[in-house]
Amino acid sequence: MSDLVTQAAPAALPGHPFLAYRNESLHLEDVTLSKLIREHGTPLFVYSKAAMLSALAAYQRGFAGRRAQICYAMKANSSLGVLQVFAQAGCGFDIVSGGELDRVLAAGGDAQKIIFSGVGKTRAEMQHALAAGIGCFNVESEGELDALSSVAVAMNLLAPVSIRVNPNVDPKTHPYISTGLKDNKFGVAHEDALRVYQHAASLKGLKVIGIDCHIGSQITDATPYLDAMDRILDLVVSIEAAGIPLEHIDFGGGLGINYNHDTPPAADALWQQLLTKLDARGFGAKKLMIEPGRSLVGNAGVCLTEVLYLKFGEQKNFCIIDAAMNDLPRPALYQAFHAIVPVALPGIGATGATEATYDVVGPVCESGDWIGHERALSVAAGDHLAVLSAGAYCMSMASNYNTRNRAAEILVDGCKSHLIRRRETVQEQMQQERLVDS
Ligand code: LLP
Repeated sequence: MSDLVTQAAPAALPGHPFLAYRNESLHLEDVTLSKLIREHGTPLFVYSKAAMLSALAAYQRGFAGRRAQICYAMKANSSLGVLQVFAQAGCGFDIVSGGELDRVLAAGGDAQKIIFSGVGKTRAEMQHALAAGIGCFNVESEGELDALSSVAVAMNLLAPVSIRVNPNVDPKTHPYISTGLKDNKFGVAHEDALRVYQHAASLKGLKVIGIDCHIGSQITDATPYLDAMDRILDLVVSIEAAGIPLEHIDFGGGLGINYNHDTPPAADALWQQLLTKLDARGFGAKKLMIEPGRSLVGNAGVCLTEVLYLKFGEQKNFCIIDAAMNDLPRPALYQAFHAIVPVALPGIGATGATEATYDVVGPVCESGDWIGHERALSVAAGDHLAVLSAGAYCMSMASNYNTRNRAAEILVDGCKSHLIRRRETVQEQMQQERLVDS
């Protein structure tokens, strides 16, 4: 018999390959989460660098051998330590404000790989981005084209532009995060696109370099992407026939993640399908751009929280935790589901745990402050829980509502952990404010 005792590898949580229980204690990569709680308190966001890089690698595999640029849509998580991971991996960035531009530059990102999206760029933001030498402005209206051209002319520069076209396909996601339908505020209508391109080409301060679209977020089916690609390629044909060559096609972001038995296509599989279509229509040699956000960071992060109190009622039981809608706004905003699991399995930390079905709620004074409805948990006050899939659109949408300090953030890399944002203080919150002299 072999001397090697093969220990069963710890089972990773479904959809979270870097999150697993070892000795009944939850680990992200090789870091024990309860240790981080002892050192940094709760609520605490913890991100896995390996999870981010492996999500990125799926896209890189999908684009192997192609001219492609992956621009991380940093609105998903704009913390400097997270941006640094993607900058070091050679990513570009999709930004939507001058503030995001400053963050990318502070994190060491390459200005030339930045694309600037959004319906309401101000002239000051345009100036700032032109001065920094960003790669492309994704323009969303004729008014914006005129404004950008005049800003560029005044700076004696040419602004590289792509026009966001609304392909009018239904991504079948939550209405607040679908963006490619006719009645959305985003992009220019498909039927107006050629005319808008001709207008852009006539403006002195602009250099037309691409076309783009973004149809929505948390998309779990390949069909809307394939439909959008067809619609966009139809336009590429007519725009180029009108004498306006396009160097790149940007397909936006939007690929979903597994929150609750969701089964989005893997990034490489999705791109295999899309590239087959692109090749079949004769556009395989075009430079491709994409703007993924959630799918790069969402399942790389957890939010750790402490159970403050359990409250039992006739209709409902409540598990009151120290994280709230200001830290985790997605349930309140989109009725979103985040899995909630114990940091230590019952038997380790849980003394006198009560097994029941709970609504998991935060301390904020609103009934909308819920993190999970009807969750079967075995918990006691003082136990810790991990809210999963918290890497995207949580910290970046966190607020100070109820004068709650924003949480600390840790980046885990193998067995190392780095504090990438310390917990905010109330003094910092009040810093910009002044009492009126009486
Ligand atoms: N590009 C553009 C132009 C976008 O507007 C967005 C997201 C992305 C890329 C990235 O999409 P992703 O790959 O992350 O799906 N707060 C919402 C999501 C809002 C998405 C806004 N735009 C949520 O928590 O579900």
